[in-house]
Amino acid sequence: MNKYPALLGALALLFSAAMGSAASPQAASTDTSNGAPVPYTLTMGDMMNTLIQPRHAKLGLAGEAQNWPLAQYALVEIRQSFAGIIKAQPKFMGLPVGQLVDAALTQPMNAVDAAIKEQNVHKFAAAYAQLTAGCNACHAAVEHPFIVIKVPDASAFPNQDFSPRQ
Ligand code: HEC
Repeated sequence: MNKYPALLGALALLFSAAMGSAASPQAASTDTSNGAPVPYTLTMGDMMNTLIQPRHAKLGLAGEAQNWPLAQYALVEIRQSFAGIIKAQPKFMGLPVGQLVDAALTQPMNAVDAAIKEQNVHKFAAAYAQLTAGCNACHAAVEHPFIVIKVPDASAFPNQDFSPRQ
């Protein structure tokens, strides 16, 4: 009758093991939360992956499409994300994250801002390449040189239109 007897058997075993360990004093001593949910704290990698990487891509896609209002918005968003990250994680490997971000990104972000205000696609491309190099400079500085960011060669967002409004 059941197609997955082996799987069900394994689950039943896991379940009984879990019930058993919940009742054992040994397990209780290692579980400091008493089974209550513990808020998930984002790691630096989590924040880079969820906040920074997509916003870096969106900024590039908006600028390439010469959608200046969207590019301006994306720049504000990525700046806000970095401001939040610096507050959430002031140090990484003992290094001051705020100073690292400032050294790597402030000047290129200002250049991106200026290019957007001038609506100059060539200046934007140059400034955005500089910004991208800044990402990699920080990764190298914090011993993650294998995380290499590049100018996006395609959109990763099939549900967002980056072209300018008519
Ligand atoms: C403070 C310096 C710093 C700057 C500036 C920085 N990063 Fe990072 N980034 C890190 C660190 C540190 C990690 C590794 C974090 C970890 O392992 O928990 C990381 C990891 C990443 C990762 C890997 C996350 C994953 O799970 O795959 C991506 C993607 C990334 N950064 C994107 C970017 C982009 C895009 C920029 C530029 C807009 C940027 N980063 C600028 C410090 C920085």
